[in-house]
Amino acid sequence: MKDQLVIFDTTLRDGEQSPGASMTRDEKLRIARQLERMRVNVIEAGFPAASNGDFESVRSVAEAIKDSTVCGLARASENDIRRAGEALRPAKSGRIHTFIATSPIHMEKKLRMSPDQVVEQAVKAIKWASEYTDDIEFSAEDAGRSEIDFLCRIFDAVIKAGAKTLNVPDTVGYNLPQQFGSTIRSLRERVANSDKVIWSVHCHNDLGLAVANSLSAVMEGARQVECTINGLGERAGNASLEEVVMAVRTRQDLFQCDTRIDATQIVPASRLVAGITGFAVQPNKAIVGANAFAHESGIHQDGVLKHRETYEIMRAEDVGWNANKLVMGKHSGRNAFKSRLTELGIGVESEAALNEAFKRFKELADKKHEIFDEDLQALMSEEGLPPAQEHYKLVSTRFHSETGEHPHASITLNTGGQEIKAEADGSGPVDAAFKAIESVAPSGATLLLYSVNNITTGTDSQGEVTVRLSKAGRIVNGQGADTDIIVASAKAYVNGLNKLHSKLEKLNPQGDI
Ligand code: KIV
Ligand code: ZN
Repeated sequence: MKDQLVIFDTTLRDGEQSPGASMTRDEKLRIARQLERMRVNVIEAGFPAASNGDFESVRSVAEAIKDSTVCGLARASENDIRRAGEALRPAKSGRIHTFIATSPIHMEKKLRMSPDQVVEQAVKAIKWASEYTDDIEFSAEDAGRSEIDFLCRIFDAVIKAGAKTLNVPDTVGYNLPQQFGSTIRSLRERVANSDKVIWSVHCHNDLGLAVANSLSAVMEGARQVECTINGLGERAGNASLEEVVMAVRTRQDLFQCDTRIDATQIVPASRLVAGITGFAVQPNKAIVGANAFAHESGIHQDGVLKHRETYEIMRAEDVGWNANKLVMGKHSGRNAFKSRLTELGIGVESEAALNEAFKRFKELADKKHEIFDEDLQALMSEEGLPPAQEHYKLVSTRFHSETGEHPHASITLNTGGQEIKAEADGSGPVDAAFKAIESVAPSGATLLLYSVNNITTGTDSQGEVTVRLSKAGRIVNGQGADTDIIVASAKAYVNGLNKLHSKLEKLNPQGDI
């Protein structure tokens, strides 16, 4: 019988710390539901003390998720821990994850605390957390640059105080695989009662070694890996969930453990996170990149056709590549639409929302005869904001673009029940559309990113556009999808403006700490 490797996903917390990856509460909920469907053991939903927005997001995830533990991060301070404890109250299974830095440089220069004070604070943190839950995780921040004797001392103390999971973060991505693995081995050998807790690792990717370091630690007995979808995260990111899971699964000949992850949900999760954050996945990214299972060389193609395992170590369908499954067309009815959404695990809040989505489906089916699962996913992720937060609505668009002429856009926006028209020229039709929208809804925001991806293959595919807008320290992503990429662009821009307008969104993750 193999051990279980606990998969702790921190896309909604560390992932959100990537500049520009800030998510609304509803976006976090959609990702959390997908993580639950994927059977992630622990979902780190946010940092409740960071802002009211983060508190509310963690609480909503705690309310919605039943099959994964929901975790909230807290510094080792009473206020942070109480905020996390409160946010997690509705959780069926909740975990408080508290941390304090343990490396000489962090203790001296950042915390300005002595090692004794750090140990004392860590123990107090566990005591506060234990007023809310037994499921307490302790992280020694910057463990990768901490002294092993001090790590043993602090881990000893927090185990005695009641911590159940001990996390060893390589916060700055400094470690090398063999070295990191031997740190885990030493800790397991030297810390008293080390067999009564779960050893966890949290590796950053500054040297491109986050997955390698995590796997080396697993070889040495770590039984929780903290990771993110698509490797999203601070700076160069965190260990990528899909790579860790599939490495362990594919090399069962070498690992003494396996995960409970439903790997067929990996590609949908990757797409969802890329769509929401606007962080596109590079084509050659392992497991979830568009080329991850594409064989270009004739020799490889020939080999795969003769016997798939000549060049493939995993099956594309096992990680959720479902080869553009044709599901519906313009004659499909409302019930078929609803049941396909259910099969895809997409929940619809109300009958009114279903009717609205079905209307958009029919409009799409008129333009695009073959509707794939990916189209439905994009259609539903376009759902938009709750009506109260939808300040601007795109009513119609018209574009003119011709060789030798200035591209021209006319758009109609509905704002507060009133329809307003505007026109503008631009250096291209997208530029013209954005200028026209700005003349009706002047935000003055800076466009940080504009990206277009095709949702399925073929020239009749929908284009999915992401724009990233920044204004007064706030960064939001807007999304839009359409078979016409100029329309998709206009939808994405209006979606971004609505988010900027919405007061519910927080300034930026951990902004007020
Ligand atoms: O990188 C890190 O050290 C962290 C901790 C809070 C676990 O994210
Ligand atoms: Zn981190």
